[in-house]
Amino acid sequence: MALRDIVKDPDPVLRRHSRPVEVFDAKLGKLLDDMRETMLAADGVGLAAPQVGLLRRVAVIETEDGYFEFINPAIVASSGSQRGAEGCLSVPGKSATVVRPMKVTVEYFDRKGKKHKEEFEGWTARACCHEFDHLDGVLYYDKAEKEGNA
Ligand code: CO
Repeated sequence: MALRDIVKDPDPVLRRHSRPVEVFDAKLGKLLDDMRETMLAADGVGLAAPQVGLLRRVAVIETEDGYFEFINPAIVASSGSQRGAEGCLSVPGKSATVVRPMKVTVEYFDRKGKKHKEEFEGWTARACCHEFDHLDGVLYYDKAEKEGNA
């Protein structure tokens, strides 16, 4: 495994759309391993591939619910809402209040190309919303409440 450099705002790569993964190979596994190591070293909850400069629909999340790898994720259902503080490894030293769904149902593929459908809630649901937004070039402060905005 290897640490990768985290791209910082306003690098334009953070504003581009990522392409779906089509090949589930060893290179993808290495990317995921590197992303997890990079996320943990930075004390982050999640990391999306554009944050290491790769425009692929890949994200990793580690919360009290466990460690998750998402490839080509899609939120297919959501319910409720939660209001809370959010930050981003690509926007260091800042945070803002963002309203997110309390529960999300996510369809995604694992590193072997197997499809999953799983429900997440609370902090993990928030992390899913935040990380998947990165895959469409959206940063959390785009959706933040105006007062105390980053
Ligand atoms: Co982020």
